[in-house]
Amino acid sequence: SELAAAGLLKGKRVLIRADLNVPQDDMGNITEDTRIKASMPAVQMCLDAGAAVMVTSHLGRPTEGEFKLEDSLAPVADRIATLLNRKVPLISDWVDGNFEVNSGDLVLLENCRLNVGEKKNNDELAKKIAALCDVYVNDAFGTAHRAEATTHGVAKYAPIACAGPLMAAELDALSRALASPKRPLVAIVAGSKVSSKLTILKALADKVDELIVGGGIANTFMLAKGLPIGKSLAEPDLVNEAREIMDIMEKRGAHVPIPEDVVVANELSPLARANRVAADQVADDDMILDIGPKTAARLSTMLAHAGTIVWNGPLGVFEIDQFGGGTKMLAAAIAHSPAFSIAGGGDTLAAIAKYGIENQVDYISTGGGAFLEFLEGKTLPAFAVLTERAKD
Ligand code: 3PG
Repeated sequence: SELAAAGLLKGKRVLIRADLNVPQDDMGNITEDTRIKASMPAVQMCLDAGAAVMVTSHLGRPTEGEFKLEDSLAPVADRIATLLNRKVPLISDWVDGNFEVNSGDLVLLENCRLNVGEKKNNDELAKKIAALCDVYVNDAFGTAHRAEATTHGVAKYAPIACAGPLMAAELDALSRALASPKRPLVAIVAGSKVSSKLTILKALADKVDELIVGGGIANTFMLAKGLPIGKSLAEPDLVNEAREIMDIMEKRGAHVPIPEDVVVANELSPLARANRVAADQVADDDMILDIGPKTAARLSTMLAHAGTIVWNGPLGVFEIDQFGGGTKMLAAAIAHSPAFSIAGGGDTLAAIAKYGIENQVDYISTGGGAFLEFLEGKTLPAFAVLTERAKD
C-alpha cells in the first residue's frame, strides 16, 4: 500500500500471490469465498494505482504438470470478475510470460501448483516467475507456512518484494494477540486430538493466563486429573504431556480450567439423547460430546473479563445441535466480550458462521495451517523471506 500511495506502481507489472484456495462442491461451485473477498483489496489497490496486475494462487493439491479440469482456477476467475465487475482472463502455461497484460488490466494466472517445481520451491522456476514482474506482492497469509516457488523463491529474485495488505493485517492481528496482548490472555484450543495440537498447547502454556480446552483434548486433560471419561475420545498415552502443561501453567499462576459438568450420550448421532452429568459422574458407556452448561457459564465469565481471546476449535460436536450448547454459549461470550478476539481454523469458522457472530469477532484469520503454525510460535517462511528482502 505504501508503494501504491507513493505512485510507484503506475505502469509496473505487479504479481500478487494470493491464497484463493477455496472450497468447492462436486460440480466445482465455490461454496465459501471469504479468501477471495479478503484478497480483493490488494488487487483493487494495484489496479487503482495503474499497475498491470497478475494474480496467482494454488487450488488444492494437484499433481504438478498434469492439468485436470477440477484443478483449474476458472471458477475463481469468474468469482473475481463478479466481485470486481470486470473481465478477468485466466492464463494457462504462464511461466514463460507468453501473455499480455496492460496497465490497469487484471489477469489470473492458472493454479501455480500445476507448474513443475512449485512445491519444491525450485530455484529456476522461482527465477522465471520473478522475471514476469517488477513488483512481487505476497498477500497469501493462508499459504505463508509453505516455502514454495510462488510464496518463497520468487521473493528472493523479484526486483521488489513486499507483503500485501491482507498478509500485513493477519500478522498485525496475530502479533497483537500473542506478542503484546492485553491481559488476561485467554486461549481456547479445542479439537479431537491432543497430539495434533500438542505443539500449540505447549507454546501457549508459557504465554496465556487461561487455557480453555475442549473436545477430545479436554477429555485427555480430564483423564490426567483422574476423572472418568467412559468411552469418550481421548489419548491416554498423552496424559503425562497434559499434566506437564497444567504444571507449567500452575507454576505461573495460570490455569487450564477443567470441565465441572459435561454433556454425554451413548452414541454420536443426531438422534442421540443428550444428558448433562457432573464431570465425576461419567458412566462407562458414556461419550462426552460437549461441555456442560455450568462449565460453559463459568468459562463465559472468564471470557467476559478477558483482555485478549484467541480461539481455535469448537468445544463440542456443535454440528449436532444437542452437543452444540457449549460452543454456542462461548461464541456468544466472545461476541459480547470487550476483549480483542481473534479466531482461526476451518471448524472454528464454521462455528462462527453457524452462530452468526462474524461481525463480533475482532479478527477472523483466513489461515488454516498458517494460523496454527503461528500459534505454535513457528516462523512462517513466506513472511521470513520478505523480512530478509526488506533488509536489502
Ligand atoms: C490452506 O487451505 O490451509 C492453504 O491454502 C494451504 O493449503 P495447503 O495445505 O494445500 O498447502
